[in-house]
Amino acid sequence: MSVVKKFPEGFLWGGATAANQVEGAYDLDGKGLSTADMVRYIPKAERTKDHALDVTREEIEAILSGKEEGRFPKRDGIDFYHHYKEDIALFAEMGFKVFRLSINWARIFPNGDDAEPNEAGLRFYDDVFDECLKYGIEPLVTLSHYETPLQLTLKYNGWADRRVIGFFMNYAETVFKRYRSKVKYWLTFNEINVITLSPYTGGGVLVESAENKLQLCYQAAHHQLVASSLATKLAHEIIPGSQVGCMLARMATYPATNNPDDILKAQKLNQMNLFFTDVHAKGEYPFFMKRYFEEKDIHIQKEVGDDEILKAHTVDFISFSYYMSLSTSSSPEAQTSSGNLMGGVKNPYLETSDWGWQIDPKGLRYTLNDFYTRYELPLFIVENGLGAYDEVEADGSIHDEYRIDYLRKHIEQMQEAITDGVELIGYTSWGPIDLVSASTSEMSKRYGFIYVDQDDDGNGTLARSRKDSFFWYKQVIESNGETL
Ligand code: BG6
Repeated sequence: MSVVKKFPEGFLWGGATAANQVEGAYDLDGKGLSTADMVRYIPKAERTKDHALDVTREEIEAILSGKEEGRFPKRDGIDFYHHYKEDIALFAEMGFKVFRLSINWARIFPNGDDAEPNEAGLRFYDDVFDECLKYGIEPLVTLSHYETPLQLTLKYNGWADRRVIGFFMNYAETVFKRYRSKVKYWLTFNEINVITLSPYTGGGVLVESAENKLQLCYQAAHHQLVASSLATKLAHEIIPGSQVGCMLARMATYPATNNPDDILKAQKLNQMNLFFTDVHAKGEYPFFMKRYFEEKDIHIQKEVGDDEILKAHTVDFISFSYYMSLSTSSSPEAQTSSGNLMGGVKNPYLETSDWGWQIDPKGLRYTLNDFYTRYELPLFIVENGLGAYDEVEADGSIHDEYRIDYLRKHIEQMQEAITDGVELIGYTSWGPIDLVSASTSEMSKRYGFIYVDQDDDGNGTLARSRKDSFFWYKQVIESNGETL
């Protein structure tokens, strides 16, 4: 007898994007430069790593003085700035209940530390939210998704400086007040753990000259954690009934074998990953960080009152991205695998995407159960999807059954987790419309249900078209997950 439960009534189906990967208009209507605007496209053959994200002060200065050439795809995105009506109409056609997007901080405060906000920037998001609400789509808004106003990096070294908490709170207060009647769901920092993997991406922090890079990263992380708690407090005060979540790049790590060394190594990696959600949900630094900080000679400078802030303003729900699981081994001979900023060793039971990410739908059920056991808070999957090469047929159609297969298998496992008893409130697949890749700035790494005619070199008409997955996802939402 099948005991599999249905998705709950009111389940929030939708899709997720980030300002710097879709908006474009990087210097229009008073927007300031952001860290993402400095990231150049490096073709695959020339890349030395899986990703091309980190930028040095020297490179920024050369770019600003016009000495460095190249393409900066995150400046252009897919020109959502001018296409948002058409794009949101397509989301509505699929039946979206929720649309996750981020506000570009530098559109509101061009330098980050300005006294007054930029009205044109505020108006843009008013228009976007109004457009969503017109179709009954709930906006889910990330305050900081992989970009910091560039001036904050140049003047303060981004989140490494405690003063940035104050600038961020000014920004948060401005947008909470402005959008209080339009936005109920908020996320503070996208994939907050990324600050330790790519500090420039996660927090606008330049680490090249730091003696102890980890010290700088964890200090910046502390500032973000305090800011996240303060923003949660403020949202609750300004917007009655608001729901605020944290956001983690969750990478469940399995031991490659039952060798106790592998098991301990996997446990440690999971602890380091979950440190961020532990603080957000439990309101304090978990016990295992003490030893880690000692071993790495990390000394977090806290101010009086920080611990109380973290304790008093924990999140309402946990949100996370899930693309893959990782495996780890204590053996130096183990074969490695790729991942978004973090790799591991090959798991022989899993297939990989075109970018080498290990596809593991059952790992999502495991992850959901694991989170719920640890925190007993509602969960929201705010990113999941398959980056793949798509082919446009002569008649314009795109048969992306590989994407449907990936998503179907993950949604099946969500249903299993719901049947296990996990409280899952929503699912926004990553990149419902093709967008610029965060890690590689490629356009050819496509996640969308909606195809965008633009290639890696920025050529194309930007025309939008529906892939097969568009019609598939529409019926998933229509049937509340029953027709997969
Ligand atoms: C997450 C980010 O890490 O993964 C997104 O929050 C990103 O911004 C997504 O786009 C997929 O990664 P990529 O590198 O394939 O774009």
